[in-house]
Parts: sequence; C-alpha cells; structure tokens
Amino acid sequence: MSDTAFNQLAPLIRQASGKTLWLADENLLSARLSPNPAVTVITNRIDLYQQLQQQGWQAQFSDYDLSEIPDQSFDTVIYRVSKEKPVVHHLINEAFRCLKPEGQMFLSGDKSEGIKSYFSKARKLFGGGESSKAEKDTWLVSLAKYNTGSDDFLDSKAYPQLRVCCQDEQFEYWSKPGVFGWDKVDKGSAYLIEHLDNFLMTLPEPPRNALDLGCGYGYLSLNISSLGIPVTATDNNAAALLACERNFERYPLQGKVVPASCAEGISEKFDLILCNPPFHAGFSVDGDLTDRFLKAAHDRLSSRGVACFVTNLHIPLERKAAACFHQAECIAANGNFKLVRLTHKT
Ligand SMILES: C[S@@+](CC[C@H](N)C(=O)[O-])C[C@H]1O[C@@H](n2cnc3c(N)ncnc32)[C@H](O)[C@@H]1O
Repeated sequence: MSDTAFNQLAPLIRQASGKTLWLADENLLSARLSPNPAVTVITNRIDLYQQLQQQGWQAQFSDYDLSEIPDQSFDTVIYRVSKEKPVVHHLINEAFRCLKPEGQMFLSGDKSEGIKSYFSKARKLFGGGESSKAEKDTWLVSLAKYNTGSDDFLDSKAYPQLRVCCQDEQFEYWSKPGVFGWDKVDKGSAYLIEHLDNFLMTLPEPPRNALDLGCGYGYLSLNISSLGIPVTATDNNAAALLACERNFERYPLQGKVVPASCAEGISEKFDLILCNPPFHAGFSVDGDLTDRFLKAAHDRLSSRGVACFVTNLHIPLERKAAACFHQAECIAANGNFKLVRLTHKT
C-alpha cells in the first residue's frame, strides 16, 4: 500500500547527503527504498527494523530512544508522523535537540492526523518553518532550527517514562505512551479474562506453558500468572516490550518477553495461547494481520494445546481459522466481543 504522506518524504531520504536521521513508524512497512549511507534510521517496530537491516540500512530498534544521540549532531531529521500524539511530540522535541543550528526537520502527514497543529507548535519551538499542501489533505512541513535555546517544547506526556497507568484488585499495570491503549485495560482483553476459568475448564489437561501473542503491556500474561506456568509474551512494538518487561519484573511471573512480529522466530510449542489480535496495521485496517496471527497461533500450538482469541464480533475469525485449525468455536459473546476457542483436534 502506497502512503501519500510518506511519498512526500521518500525523495528527501533518497537524496540526503548531510548527516540525516529518519524516524520510521509502523505505517512504513511497505516502504522500499535503497539504503543511503548518510541516513540512520530509528524505528520502534521489530519487523520494520529487520526489513530495513536486510535492505542494508543503518537501522536501530528502540522505543524512539534518542538519548544517546549528542545535541546538535544532525543536519536533517525526516519523519512521517505517527498515529499517537505523545510519540509525535516526543520526536519533534528530540529532533530539535539533535539538530545543528539551522538544521532542518521534515514532517508529513494528513490533516486528520493533526499535521497542521504539529506544524504550528513545532514552528514556535524551532523558530522557522513552512508548510505546503502536497495532495488533497496531505501536507509537507519543513522546520528550520533558528532558536538555539527554547522553552516551547511540545507536551509529550513524559513519553519515555514507564508509570502505573491503571489498576484492578490484583495488579497495578505499568505502561507508557506508545503502547496500544496504554492507559487503560482493553475491554476485549478484560472480557477474555472474565471468562478465563470457564475456558480453562475446556482444556484436556492442565497447560504446561503459555504464549501471550501481541502482549502489549502484558495484561493477559499477568492475569494468568496464578497458573504458575512459564509465560512467553511477545509483541513487535518496542514500547510494549519495555512495559511488559517491567510488569514481568514486578510480579512473580516466570517467563520471558520476546520481540517478534507475529511470533516469528519463536520455535517453542505452547499448551495455552491467548491473543487479542490487532486489526489495525499502521493507518489501515489490515485483514491480512488477523490471518498472520492465526497462522502464528497454529504453528506454535502444541498438539494437545488450546488457543483463545478475543475479537470484535464483526471479525469472521471462525471462518478464517477454519483454514488452519481443526476446530474453531465461539464459546462466549456479548454485544461487542466474542471468544473463539481454537484446537488442532476436537
Ligand atoms: C489489541 S492489542 C492487545 C494488547 C494486549 N494483549 C492487551 O490485552 O492489552 C494488540 C497488540 O498486538 C501488537 N501487534 C501489532 N502488530 C503486531 C505484529 N505484527 N506482531 C506482534 N505484535 C503485534 C500491538 O503492538 C498490540 O500490543
């Protein structure tokens, strides 16, 4: 899928000759550019990082941690804005710090993503800038660092900091901006946990281990910790992995947190798999992602294992799952969500 906003920046990345930092977000998974040795790329998605590395880019995977980059060390920063405001604010602030005097930051995005408001706030911080309409509602923004010291930093909600974001009777959940639904318990996941005991009763034998597929900050993992079995939690997003690690340290959970896209590279098989799959990839609703999560569960489920997916009612999960699972059965539903039980055998 071609992204009009990113298309405004692609020529700048290709032609960059001064020291350039490209901040690459999840919406760029389909981007294919030949590597430019003047450019360092930082991304918060493990799949994009692996793809860029294979293409020969100088790439780093982190939760947009630019703290090791010295002040005033880059000529140019290029960034197609992310979905979440604190991420964008954090990266504009950090770009300002990392740029040399008169260095430039290029941003692109759509009106509905707040690009015009990012432009007006960032221009105050930088001291100079221009914006131009590229196509329909897509804008290209260039900012020039004329201010050396400035107090007009954008509110990033203390982006790098992990914090207790919500709690219930059993747990305090640590999380941060940049994690999916970072400051709340997801309603679908809460629904799954409400029905967990009933679901566990359908298992042929007690599970020996579990996989939390697309773990976010680890809500599902924490809520099965009372089973006393090793839990592997995996996600492709760096912020989610950091938060989940913190929750694993905080509570007596045996197990590990593994960066992976759709569990790629995890060869272990699991007796229990829990998943609340994403159905948004970048800016688009991605049907294919559901199939990839189902395939990941299929490949990692032990022969006696049972998986439970929670999804919105409208996702045809049972039909999709029928292609790879022997049995795919809806075991509970309310007005919004359903739980689907998946097994290799009946
Ligand atoms: C609906 S959220 C559920 C999060 C968590 N399990 C919970 O219950 O709060 C889906 C999660 O899938 C992750 N995700 C999205 N694409 C992924 C991919 N390709 N591989 C692994 N995880 C992915 C997202 O980062 C997000 O944390």
